[in-house]
Amino acid sequence: MQNKIILGDCLEVMKKMPAESIALIYLDPPFFSNRNYEIIWGDAGEIRSFEDRWSGGIDQYINWLYDRVKEMHRLLKPTGSIYLHCDWHADAYIRVMILDKEFGYENFRGHIIWKRTNAHNDAKKKLAVLTDTIWYYSKSNNFSFNPIYSELTEKYSCNFYKYDDMDGKGKYSLGDLTNTRPGGYNYEYKGYLPNANGWRCPFETMQKWDADNKIYFPKSQHQRLRIKRYLSETKGQLIGNDWIDIQNVQGTSIEKIGYPTQKPLALLERIIKASSNEGDVVLDPFMGGGTTMLMANNLQRNFIGIDQSIAALDVTDKRLQANGIFTNYEIEKHYFAEEDLRAMDPFEFETWIVGKFGGTPNEKQRGDHGSDGMKDDVPIQVKSWKNKIGRVEIQKFFSVCHAGRKFKEKQENGLPVGYFIAFDFAKEAVQEMARLKNEDGILIERVLVSEIVDVAKRPVVRIDCSKTLDGKYEFRAVSDSVIINYSWDFNYPIPAHKFPQEVGKFNPSVLYDKNGVRVHNFAEGGVHNVAVRVVDDKYLENMAVYSFGE
Ligand SMILES: C[S@@+](CC[C@H](N)C(=O)[O-])C[C@H]1O[C@@H](n2cnc3c(N)ncnc32)[C@H](O)[C@@H]1O
Repeated sequence: MQNKIILGDCLEVMKKMPAESIALIYLDPPFFSNRNYEIIWGDAGEIRSFEDRWSGGIDQYINWLYDRVKEMHRLLKPTGSIYLHCDWHADAYIRVMILDKEFGYENFRGHIIWKRTNAHNDAKKKLAVLTDTIWYYSKSNNFSFNPIYSELTEKYSCNFYKYDDMDGKGKYSLGDLTNTRPGGYNYEYKGYLPNANGWRCPFETMQKWDADNKIYFPKSQHQRLRIKRYLSETKGQLIGNDWIDIQNVQGTSIEKIGYPTQKPLALLERIIKASSNEGDVVLDPFMGGGTTMLMANNLQRNFIGIDQSIAALDVTDKRLQANGIFTNYEIEKHYFAEEDLRAMDPFEFETWIVGKFGGTPNEKQRGDHGSDGMKDDVPIQVKSWKNKIGRVEIQKFFSVCHAGRKFKEKQENGLPVGYFIAFDFAKEAVQEMARLKNEDGILIERVLVSEIVDVAKRPVVRIDCSKTLDGKYEFRAVSDSVIINYSWDFNYPIPAHKFPQEVGKFNPSVLYDKNGVRVHNFAEGGVHNVAVRVVDDKYLENMAVYSFGE
């Protein structure tokens, strides 16, 4: 399974995903309340104001979310679970009008209260809201769950584990050995009797624990036997639904990436550990800054993240890279850079584009005269050449098609006898295909790469520089494309005339700025290279470098 981060409305993306393929879904959708992040990032997907988006009130919000939760239900495996993060504005509506309906009241597993703040700003006027709600449902009664434990606090350990036999086994607490309900085991053990419910274990187990020195014998035989529970053996304290020990991301937290509404990694760690196992697929359909993706990866789960905001994809991509995760995920965006596709290894490109076209790629590389794959029982030819495809290539491909098993049948039915995929076809190639069709009824279908995937050129950018009145430098990134963010490195190690520029050496001090103008002061003279990395509205990026000084 390939990890993915995908650009798009999660509803549309999820519709294309296979049913029952996901173990765990965490979603942190735009709250019915949240106005902030919709304007902070201000890219194409987020530009609508709160009033526009939810002008139909709570009903509109609930319908919008319901459509998406319905898809999530379809995607979950029968053993899977969903955690829906929301707040007081809509949590009751979401539970009753969406989750109970789609997942069933009987599959409600928990109402998690996450204490996200201590701020009591409005506490003098009313009760301050310090918590968010996370609804936890499973798809069926047979759901996967790993109990979660919190580390014991020192105070708790001291108060609870207060006995010590000084035999090197350390501190222990004493647990009850009598059954909580009638129906336990009734026997006398070394003169000690149980209560009316009986002991909770059979005689042999009691003997074994006794041999292991795990039974506590009170002085008086009128008291009950107890079991010793050692601190060194405990996994911690079992966690319930009151999650008050996870701090929200603070201004100074190391994990803060500046994505509005970013959730803490510890919150996702708890959810992912509880409701998935290594190798499972975790989905976050409102990925934001990629918190779920990073934690899923850290815990050896696979991940799929979806967000309609280009900025979210960009932030997540950079966040994963900053955490040393480079190659094990794919970014699915609407547009592919034509330059990158043309530069791909030809065989790799053939395999990839045939797959995107819905065909089956040839496993073996065959050179120019074979086919690169099959679709509808006819051959596919792929060429990623710089030059346009000419008449000769069409004639060569015709021979391949002619040798095909289904050639006659397809010709007689007026169906394609082969598909030719390329970036561009010369006029002669188009004429040759038309001739085959008109004279012999042979249809070779011409397919442009841009008809299979969205292809665009990378944005072209340059830096203009001028001096300000107070002796600083003003840099202006200039591009004809619609740029959604600019990142700047004022100490880039490679001069402008040395190509190619290396993204790996780009170490920006300004990240994802919305404004393409920056004023900078250099403390020392000498040569300076200033680099800008831009991302356009098709999520394609490019760099420019400006060098000056001596
Ligand atoms: C509350 S934020 C998620 C924050 C995230 N949990 C984190 O820790 O960074 C909600 C995200 O949902 C995205 N979003 C809103 N509507 C969407 C849609 N229809 N499909 C996919 N993503 C959407 C927004 O762009 C935003 O990034």
